[in-house]
Order: sequence, then C-alpha cells, then structure tokens
Amino acid sequence: MKKTTIVYFLLLTFFAATSLTNCTKGFIPEDDIIPTPPTNQGDTVTYQTHISAVISNSCINCHGGSNPQGNLLLETYTQVRNAVENGTLIQRINDAADPMPTSGLLPAQTRALFDEWVQNGYLEN
Ligand code: HEC
Repeated sequence: MKKTTIVYFLLLTFFAATSLTNCTKGFIPEDDIIPTPPTNQGDTVTYQTHISAVISNSCINCHGGSNPQGNLLLETYTQVRNAVENGTLIQRINDAADPMPTSGLLPAQTRALFDEWVQNGYLEN
C-alpha cells in the first residue's frame, strides 16, 4: 500500500469513529428528556410490584393494625382488592374533595397504577 493510501485510510477510520461517537452522544433517549415518574415504566402492574408499595407508603399508617381508620384494613392483597371491588378505594383516591390519603391526592401517575391494575384483572405478582 502507498503511504498516502494508508494516511487516507487512517483518516477515514478516524472520521468514521468520530461521527459514530457523535451519533451516540447526539441520541438522547426520550426517557432522559421527559422525567419518567417512578411508577409503571412499562411493566405490567401487579399488587406485589406496584400497588403494595403505594399502600405501604400512603395508606397503611391509618389502614393497618388493630384499629384501622374507617374500619378498613389494607394490609393484604385480598383486603385491597376487596376495597376496590366492593368498596370505594378507587373513588376515594380520586376524590379531590375527600381524598385518600387525607393529606391530598396522590400523583396522577400513581393513581393511574390502580386503574391499570383493575383493568389487568388484579394481578397479584
Ligand atoms: C391519615 C390517615 C389516613 C390515611 C393515610 C389514609 N386514610 Fe383512608 N381513611 C381514613 C379515615 C379517617 C377514614 C374514615 C373517614 C372517611 O371515610 O373519610 C378513611 C376511609 C377510607 C376509605 C372508605 C372506607 C369506607 O368503607 O367507608 C377508603 C376506601 C380509604 N380510606 C382508602 C384509603 C387509601 C387507598 C389510602 C392510601 C392511598 C388511605 N385511605 C390513606 C384515614 C386515612
């Protein structure tokens, strides 16, 4: 190979590598632009993975133990499911005038998890 050919080849390789790197850097996944809420993230909503965490964080202080508020226990899958199917859980978490938790509505994305859970047939795990 002639020297100029080698130089040309090296330059070409260099530019190809640089443009590839730029290309990689230039590509920002949509998730990085729009802050993704710490919720579903594409998984199927289940009681174990999503719902029980919300209940533990936002409900169990009042709806657990030996003297639960509103006489409503939300400690197990069956209890939570029952509060949705036969009670007012979905209405109350979406009731701005009388919300659960009492401190105020949960973020919309968190409430949407419950809707998805219901639609998918109350998957346990
Ligand atoms: C700070 C305490 C507190 C927290 C936290 C709380 N609740 Fe309640 N909840 C109450 C009280 C008190 C009542 C009874 C009075 C009423 O219905 O407003 C009640 C009633 C309810 C009822 C109606 C029960 C019935 O059969 O009439 C539902 C459903 C409910 N809560 C769901 C939830 C859910 C779901 C969460 C969490 C997302 C939650 N609550 C968090 C205090 C709380």
